Amino acid sequence: MKIFLDTANLESIRKYNAMGIVDGITTNPSLLAKEGGDPEAIMGEIVRTVRGPVSLEVINTEFEGMISEARRLSKFGKNVVVKVPLTSEGLRAVKQLSSEEIRTNVTLVFSANQALLAAKAGASYVSPFIGRLDDIGHVGMDVIRDTVQIFKNYGYKTEVLVASVRHPLHVVDAAKIGAHVVTMPPDVLAKMISHPLTNIGLDRFLADWEKTKEIPKAKLALSK
Ligand code: E4P
Repeated sequence: MKIFLDTANLESIRKYNAMGIVDGITTNPSLLAKEGGDPEAIMGEIVRTVRGPVSLEVINTEFEGMISEARRLSKFGKNVVVKVPLTSEGLRAVKQLSSEEIRTNVTLVFSANQALLAAKAGASYVSPFIGRLDDIGHVGMDVIRDTVQIFKNYGYKTEVLVASVRHPLHVVDAAKIGAHVVTMPPDVLAKMISHPLTNIGLDRFLADWEKTKEIPKAKLALSK
């Protein structure tokens, strides 16, 4: 399963990218606004920093506007994937962009039916928002299970990108289902790395190693 970082924060992107565990990036207008800098400059820098796919979202909501914005965004680099919302105009834009070989990530997907339509239109990725569904009392992961099954049944090439991830259990569940990609905020990735038993175990090993320095030389010679 591929791991994408769901952030526009360059510091986090560089940090986890250096560990070789980041396959791509997803951004959205809210994440870019949070960074407080020039969004165009940030997008450009992210695209140059990461080799894998980087999702950049259109702001236009009308077909023509989406298409011209998508063409402009795709010029940032070969690894750009244009994020388009799941609306009627968005589906039309996905069809057009796929005919121009511009890859798309259909965002704001909340049902398996919407995911199916995105795949039919020619989306490269479809992004069901799991956490936001959980927030309103639905089981977000059910949409992932259904979508993965539907795409398998009909051989769609569209990848299921699990979005709006809130905690590491979402990642395990998505991987068990066989989702292609999970995008997560940096704090979720940090939680995946750390385990209290790893830290306790490491502290103990290092403390025991320190004790070897206290063993008198004579005793060491005897034990040989
Ligand atoms: C996906 O691509 C979105 O950027 C993101 O996962 C939305 O997550 P949120 O619900 O935490 O805002």
